[in-house]
Amino acid sequence: MTAQAPHIEAKHLNFFYGATQALFDVTIGIKRSNVTAFIGPSGCGKSTFLRTLNRMNDIIDGIRIDGHVLVDGEDIYKSASNVIDLRRKIGMVFQKSNPFPKSIYENVAY
Ligand SMILES: Nc1ncnc2c1ncn2[C@@H]1O[C@H](COP(=O)(O)OP(=O)(O)O)[C@@H](O)[C@H]1O
Ligand SMILES: [Mg+2]
Repeated sequence: MTAQAPHIEAKHLNFFYGATQALFDVTIGIKRSNVTAFIGPSGCGKSTFLRTLNRMNDIIDGIRIDGHVLVDGEDIYKSASNVIDLRRKIGMVFQKSNPFPKSIYENVAY
């Protein structure tokens, strides 16, 4: 049996908030149907890394990213990749709950 290719793969990923670098040359493969935990002190870049996996950092001004993130072999930072489809596959549960910018009724209904 051949080894299964990683479901998600980061390759030489560097991430910057303006002049501040938060991720340094991260290369890692994450397997499907496994639990993978990132453990480290506050501010070490766990959330930043997780947000790179579904392009949640894109909405922050002044960020820069280089390197690659592949999901099932496809580079999610290629201009042709579809962010909506990506976020259907890769969700995120936040540390603090956040209502949607809609009415209370619509939030509860959702
Ligand atoms: N929106 C942001 N703008 C500027 N710097 C940020 C922002 N978010 C996080 N950082 C900085 O990036 C580094 C990594 O933070 P973060 O990914 O939140 O770490 P962790 O989740 O491991 O606590 C920290 O130095 C933090 O201050
Ligand atoms: Mg965090």
